[in-house]
Amino acid sequence: MRARKVTDRVMWVGSVDWDRQIFDELIPLPDGTSYNAYLVTGSEKTVLIDTVDPTKTGEWCGLLDALELSRVDYIVASHAEQDHSGSIPFALERFADAKLVCTPKARGMLVDLLQIDEGRIVTVTDGETLSLGDLTLEFIHAPWVHWPETMLTYLRERKVLFPCDLFGSHLATSELFMSEPSRVYRAAKRYYAEIMMPFRTNIVKHLERLGGYAIDIIAPSHGPLYDNPQFIMDVYRDWVSGPLANKVVVPYVSMHGSTQVIVDRLIASLAEQGVLVVPHKLTAGDTGRLAMELVDAATVVLGTPTVLAGAHPQVAYAAILANALRPRVMYASIVGSYGWGGKAVEQLLSLMPNLKVEVLDPVILKGLPSESDLGAIDRLGVQIAEKHRGAGLV
Ligand code: FEO
Repeated sequence: MRARKVTDRVMWVGSVDWDRQIFDELIPLPDGTSYNAYLVTGSEKTVLIDTVDPTKTGEWCGLLDALELSRVDYIVASHAEQDHSGSIPFALERFADAKLVCTPKARGMLVDLLQIDEGRIVTVTDGETLSLGDLTLEFIHAPWVHWPETMLTYLRERKVLFPCDLFGSHLATSELFMSEPSRVYRAAKRYYAEIMMPFRTNIVKHLERLGGYAIDIIAPSHGPLYDNPQFIMDVYRDWVSGPLANKVVVPYVSMHGSTQVIVDRLIASLAEQGVLVVPHKLTAGDTGRLAMELVDAATVVLGTPTVLAGAHPQVAYAAILANALRPRVMYASIVGSYGWGGKAVEQLLSLMPNLKVEVLDPVILKGLPSESDLGAIDRLGVQIAEKHRGAGLV
């Protein structure tokens, strides 16, 4: 991809990764991603905001060659994670007089992760400005969007916010600005669920602070840019603190059909109660979809068979993942089956200490459930629906 104009004297100089399928060897990327970098040209100084993933350094070199840049004075490192910082060593070599600008916290991380010469680094305080002549950059420390060292940059005269990973989406697209809101909404929600949700209390504060800035363009580090910033700021407000849905997510595995019977009955019971149910077969679905569904679910019910006296490992993984992502769920339960004994309930609950939930009566049934056994599932469905009604979710 060639450089593209964002606004007067601001260029997108990133890389679109159409083929990447997984991020951090953890997060599925069904739509690829992009590594957005930006070039801001003031009357006196030129600044590069971030670089690209090291797998794209060669391609990126071609993009920079085509721009025939005579110099870059500063390289802003918004974030030390390698998808943005990985080509900094190359950029520092290419622009031999450039200083690397980052937060004090990022300084050590960039040295540790990329072995960057500390003599090239200039740290900036929260709110500090950098004059480029007729343009001004303001640096906004914003820890935990995604790591503790993250920083946003605001270009005052153009009202452009470069928010680092915040407001991003893993979406490879030829569109510079969002043009398909529904597609971008889904990609941004998935991204929020997988990357930002664990830090939502920090994000609440960042959103509050950003309310004091006039913003015309949001130019995140991944995915399309927003020339209607309200769109992404509103959906973020909803995800971090909006009302939860009258919804139950059921991540489950069934080995020989018994847990499937239980889950099917739970779906039917909840549906009769007017509760939306999202079953998620862990051996078939992708974890990004599960994470997305957890953003606004009021309840999660894990469904597991018993394997070697414990939960199925895939269900244990889902519990660990939910614990790490810290969704706002209010209620949790466990359903499943066993052959001769086991401790699946205790094990799974012990894997989710971060979820501040009320645990509703788990139902673990022996063998293939009979009709009378399934009454316990119906009672769980009623209990969940009552809880949701009590919480004003209906
Ligand atoms: Fe896009 Fe946390 O890196």
